[in-house]
Amino acid sequence: MKALVYNGPGRHAWTDVPDPQLQDPGDAIVRIDAVTICGTDLHILKGDVPETTAGRILGHEAVGTVESVGAGVQSVRAGDRVLVSCISPCGRCAYCRVGVYGQCRNGGGWILGHLVDGTQAQYVRAPFADTSLYPLPANVTDESALLLADILPTSYEVGVLNGKVSPGDTVVVVGAGPIGLAAITTARLFSPSRIIAVDKAKTRLDAALEFGATQAILVDDDPVATLRGIGDGLGADTVIEAVGVPETFELSTELVRPGGRVANIGVHGKPATLHLESLWIRNVTITTGLVDAYSTPRLLTMLAAGQLDTSKFVTHRFGLDEMMDAYDVFADAADTGALKVALFRT
Ligand SMILES: NC(=O)c1ccc[n+]([C@@H]2O[C@H](COP(=O)([O-])OP(=O)(O)OC[C@H]3O[C@@H](n4cnc5c(N)ncnc54)[C@H](O)[C@@H]3O)[C@@H](O)[C@H]2O)c1
Ligand SMILES: [Zn+2]
Ligand SMILES: [Zn+2]
Repeated sequence: MKALVYNGPGRHAWTDVPDPQLQDPGDAIVRIDAVTICGTDLHILKGDVPETTAGRILGHEAVGTVESVGAGVQSVRAGDRVLVSCISPCGRCAYCRVGVYGQCRNGGGWILGHLVDGTQAQYVRAPFADTSLYPLPANVTDESALLLADILPTSYEVGVLNGKVSPGDTVVVVGAGPIGLAAITTARLFSPSRIIAVDKAKTRLDAALEFGATQAILVDDDPVATLRGIGDGLGADTVIEAVGVPETFELSTELVRPGGRVANIGVHGKPATLHLESLWIRNVTITTGLVDAYSTPRLLTMLAAGQLDTSKFVTHRFGLDEMMDAYDVFADAADTGALKVALFRT
C-alpha cells in the first residue's frame, strides 16, 4: 500500500510500504476513506517529537471501513464504517477505567502516528479496536466525522469543559487555528454571552468571527486593555489557550478575571513563566491536559442530530495520493488560508 512515511526531521514521503497485518487479538485493519493532517504532524516533521522515529507512518485522525478484525474484537466487524480516534485506550488500566484514556498505561493512549503506524495511508492497523473505533451513523458524512477524531474532543474537553464555560460567561480564546475555532464552536454549546478571539493573524480572526466569536482582537492591539473596557472590566471567566508559546500562556493569565479559569490546550515546547507574584491573590485556576476523547460518543450524537456545525473547518480537499500537496498547503496556512485539509480515497 501507499503511506506517508516520516523519514527523520524535515523528510517525509508518500511511498510504498507493506500492508498492515493483525498482530493482537484486539486489532482491526481499517481501510482509510478520509484522513486529515494535524498541526502535531508538522511538529513531528520538525523533529519536536523525538519518540516518533524514522520509518513511522504518520496520522492520528481518520474515517474508514473495517476490513478485518482480530479474534478478541466484539464491537465492530468487517464492513462497518468507523471513526478512528486519535486516542486508542486499552480500556482496562487504572486510568482507562476512570475515562482518562489519554494517560493509558497499557500501551494505549495517543499511539497512532506517534508510537505505532498511523492513518495517513491506504490501510491502518487499529489497536484496541473495541475502544478506539466508533461505528458511524449513516447520516454523518466522512468529512464531518473526521473532525471528531481529534480537534473537536480536544477543544471541548481540554478547553471548554476544563475551563467550565457556563451560560453568560465571557470567554477569551487565544489562538484561532483549528483548535481555537473548535473551542469557539463547542463553547457556544454553553451560551456564553461573549466569545472574544485573539490571534496574530487577521485571516484567522476573520475565521473566528465566522465561527461565532462575538469580537476579535489582534494580539498586538493590547487585548488586556480591551478587556478592561468590556462588561465589568475584570477580565474573562475562562481563557482558552490554543497556541502553545510562552507569550500566549502568559497573556492568558493576564486576561483572566479573579476567580476565573485558564484552560491550556497548547502543546508547549519551551518553559513559560507562571507569574505567581500577581496570580496568588486572584483565585485563578489553571488546567492543562492531553485529550482523552471520552466526549467522542456525545459529540457524535450531537453531530448526527445537527447540533454541531462542522461545515466550515475543511478548506481544502484532495485525493489520498495527493498527500504531499496536502502537506504543503497545510504547512503554508498563512498563505493558503488552510484550516483543515481532508483527503479522500479515490
Ligand atoms: N492538548 C492537546 O491534547 C492538544 C491536541 C491537539 C492540538 N494541541 C495543540 O493546540 C495548539 C493549537 O493547535 P492548532 O492546530 O489550532 O495550531 P495552529 O498553529 O493552526 O494555530 C495556532 C494559531 O495561533 C496563532 N498564533 C501563533 N502565535 C501567536 C501569538 N504569539 N499570539 C497570538 N496568536 C498566535 C496563529 O496565527 C494560529 O492562528 C497547538 O499547540 C497544538 O499542538 C493540543
Ligand atoms: Zn492531532
Ligand atoms: Zn489503558
